[in-house]
Amino acid sequence: MGIRNLCRTLFILVVALVPVSSLAGEGGKEADGYVDNERQTCLMCHNTPAVKGVLETPHFMSGDPASPGERQGCQSCHGPASEHVASPMQVKPMGFGADSEIPVEAQNTVCLDCHESGDRNDWHASTHAAAGVACADCHSVHEPRQKALNRNAQAGICFDCHLDKRQALRRRSHHPIEEGLVGCADCHNPHGGSGPGQLQAVSVNDPCTICHAEKRGPFLWEHPPVADDCTNCHDPHGSVHPDLLVQRPPFLCQQCHSESFHPGTLRSGTGLPGASPDNKILGGACTNCHSQVHGSNHPSGTVLSR
Ligand code: HEC
Ligand code: HEC
Ligand code: HEC
Ligand code: HEC
Ligand code: HEC
Ligand code: HEC
Ligand code: HEC
Ligand code: HEC
Ligand code: HEC
Ligand code: HEC
Repeated sequence: MGIRNLCRTLFILVVALVPVSSLAGEGGKEADGYVDNERQTCLMCHNTPAVKGVLETPHFMSGDPASPGERQGCQSCHGPASEHVASPMQVKPMGFGADSEIPVEAQNTVCLDCHESGDRNDWHASTHAAAGVACADCHSVHEPRQKALNRNAQAGICFDCHLDKRQALRRRSHHPIEEGLVGCADCHNPHGGSGPGQLQAVSVNDPCTICHAEKRGPFLWEHPPVADDCTNCHDPHGSVHPDLLVQRPPFLCQQCHSESFHPGTLRSGTGLPGASPDNKILGGACTNCHSQVHGSNHPSGTVLSR
């Protein structure tokens, strides 16, 4: 028998020996199935650091009438538990997480009863809700400093399910997410948003230009794909090309601009240095000349060159 099973057997033995009548509260809430004095009661059997951590979280902030601590305590989330206390092995209280027998939607309803406002307004229409993701998949509410709220650690939770994003962030050019400068939640609202891709805002560009304000415009000479959607040219997570580009110039530009426009005939020997050097040969990649690819405010910046 493994040590784990041994512990479990001992635990069950102890449980069986505790006189149950001494645990159940007197009258009051017990009538609705709630145990009085539940913190002491529950912790008699669940006295582990992992469980007790919850007492140091905002959920047990004293003086906040909205907090579970000021309502039914543990039972605000785990539901009325007097039957569980009377026969712990037979009756389970409301449980959360991957091992729980309670359907995810019912688990989430408990949390949403107190949290269905602000950033959670669009939860029911979110991709995560549709995919059966539980609040408890991301929030370890028993931990005093939960990962989800820590920008440096948050991505680790997402990687559990979005392995491809971890891979993207290992690419040579990537947003400094694992470096702790940007969080997934700077761009995404994991509870769902009104825009595409569970983004924080209605358009893709809004989150980008909060940090990269100089790209916001409006410009005197706009480059339409920039005003339209930064992801026309950038992969926001990571790319093998520099500057998070989805392709390198000139190929990037040639996805939209005719390949035969101004290379072609200009590229002849007469343009080489020694004769009359042609800047279009020497310029190489498009952005050497069209340097203001995000838009220009220069009076003669019509071709985004200054
Ligand atoms: C007499 C001991 C005892 C008391 C008191 C007790 N529990 Fe339990 N509890 C248990 C045992 C034993 C299990 C494990 C059952 C199992 O693994 O099948 C358990 C399991 C649980 C679980 C896990 C449920 C799941 O789905 O996996 C939760 C949550 C829980 N208890 C909450 C509470 C709360 C809240 C209280 C106080 C209101 C409480 N317990 C009081 C013994 C107790
Ligand atoms: C804000 C809601 C909330 C409150 C309040 C709360 N819990 Fe929990 N509890 C959870 C969630 C969610 C889980 C699932 C595991 C996780 O995410 O940490 C859980 C897990 C548990 C488990 C199972 C742990 C395991 O490792 O299987 C026990 C036992 C438990 N809670 C007991 C308690 C006790 C005792 C209290 C009061 C001191 C309490 N809980 C207060 C939400 C809550
Ligand atoms: C009885 C009401 C109530 C229930 C039920 C409840 N919460 Fe809370 N929650 C609060 C209050 C009050 C706070 C503290 C004030 C705030 O941050 O809004 C809070 C804070 C939080 C925070 C921020 C905590 C932190 O560490 O800073 C998270 C995340 C959270 N709750 C998630 C959950 C999840 C997930 C569930 C379900 C398992 C849940 N809550 C159930 C009332 C509740
Ligand atoms: C996919 C992961 C994920 C899921 C699922 C999720 N959350 Fe969150 N939640 C987060 C992250 C990440 C943050 C931090 C957001 C930020 O930094 O702007 C957060 C923040 C919060 C906060 C605000 C805490 C604060 O102090 O501002 C609350 C409350 C909350 N979540 C409740 C919920 C509830 C309720 C559910 C289920 C309906 C849920 N969350 C589902 C990842 C998730
Ligand atoms: C428990 C697994 C799980 C966790 C943890 C998780 N996700 Fe998801 N996520 C999914 C599933 C399932 C989908 C839907 C299928 C898909 O697109 O892969 C999804 C979809 C998404 C989408 C696409 C939304 C759309 O409408 O196209 C985004 C963005 C996203 N998740 C961001 C996050 C972020 C940010 C985190 C961490 C804070 C996170 N996810 C954590 C499971 C998870
Ligand atoms: C710099 C902003 C930004 C950051 C930071 C960010 N994303 Fe995204 N993410 C986007 C944009 C923009 C899209 C595309 C949305 C669309 O157009 O549908 C996207 C799409 C997604 C999608 C769905 C489509 C796909 O490509 O699979 C998932 C899943 C996703 N992101 C997960 C994450 C995770 C996990 C993190 C943190 C590790 C993260 N994102 C960080 C901006 C960001
Ligand atoms: C929370 C702030 C923040 C948000 C939001 C944000 N970025 Fe960034 N971005 C950064 C930081 C920090 C860097 C790294 C700058 C550095 O290394 O000097 C960066 C770097 C970049 C780079 C250059 C990458 C490289 O290899 O040097 C590009 C391109 C970029 N971001 C595009 C975007 C796009 C597109 C969006 C929206 C989808 C976006 N950013 C949203 C903070 C942000
Ligand atoms: C038409 C393609 C294209 C679009 C669309 C585009 N970019 Fe860029 N971006 C580039 C290219 C090419 C570079 C490489 C450096 C250069 O030539 O300016 C770059 C570089 C960057 C850089 C890093 C270097 C610098 O100039 O700071 C950031 C940050 C950036 N882009 C943000 C954005 C944001 C934010 C958006 C959306 C508002 C956006 N880009 C839309 C093509 C584009
Ligand atoms: C997603 C498509 C797309 C990509 C990629 C793209 N462009 Fe553009 N570009 C446009 C559109 C649309 C216009 C506006 C054309 C018009 O007004 O006739 C434009 C206009 C221009 C103009 C100004 C031309 C004029 O007549 O006003 C220049 C210069 C330019 N792009 C250069 C570039 C360069 C350099 C790149 C690569 C870094 C690039 N473009 C990538 C779509 C794109
Ligand atoms: C050596 C500098 C140079 C390089 C390299 C260069 N261009 Fe240009 N481009 C110009 C100049 C100057 C103009 C305006 C005068 C003209 O039409 O020749 C221009 C004009 C344009 C126009 C506007 C055409 C119109 O109808 O008004 C587009 C689009 C354009 N370039 C795209 C590109 C693309 C895509 C590349 C890379 C494949 C590229 N350029 C490489 C200098 C350059």
